[in-house]
Amino acid sequence: MPYAAQVPVLRTLHVFGAIFLLGGVSTHALLRPMAARATDAAQQALFQFAWRVELALVYTGSALVLITGVLLWIVGHFKVFTGWLLLGFLLYAAAAGLDGAFLAPNLRRARTTAGEGSQPVAAAAMTVQLVAWLLLVVVVFLMVAQPF
Ligand code: HEM
Repeated sequence: MPYAAQVPVLRTLHVFGAIFLLGGVSTHALLRPMAARATDAAQQALFQFAWRVELALVYTGSALVLITGVLLWIVGHFKVFTGWLLLGFLLYAAAAGLDGAFLAPNLRRARTTAGEGSQPVAAAAMTVQLVAWLLLVVVVFLMVAQPF
């Protein structure tokens, strides 16, 4: 593919990845407080849906932004030490860490067993979920504004 065509294609895929990822994480942030207040059967159904969202949107979007982001970094001839890129990558890694270490296992457990377990765990998951969402919102700002 000629060079001139690569960047728009990669950028489109990258933005699709961002839409999937942030869409999925936003859905989780809306679902968790609903699930916490739902009856057992409804809770089970909501967490099953949340797990679907994790697989179809969060994991897919996360892989897509990572692969296309690194390719854009190289193909777009950005310097290695570009401030917004390094910080954006770092915040993405932090959000992925929170998801992999806590949020995804929490959803996976809640989908099969009765709910999330204790009320404090549900409250912690809600807070961590909002932090992950906020990190990704900051990444979008950094990528769009490219401020430094
Ligand atoms: C995983 C590490 C990431 C890397 C290495 C990366 C890299 C890049 C690069 C190099 C660009 C500039 C493309 C250009 O101007 O030609 C870009 C744009 C963009 N990135 Fe990322 N990105 C990453 C993660 C993310 C994440 C997590 C999101 C959002 C959830 C995101 C959202 C965007 C958006 C919306 C743009 C478009 C900016 C515009 O064209 O105005 N990126 N990214």
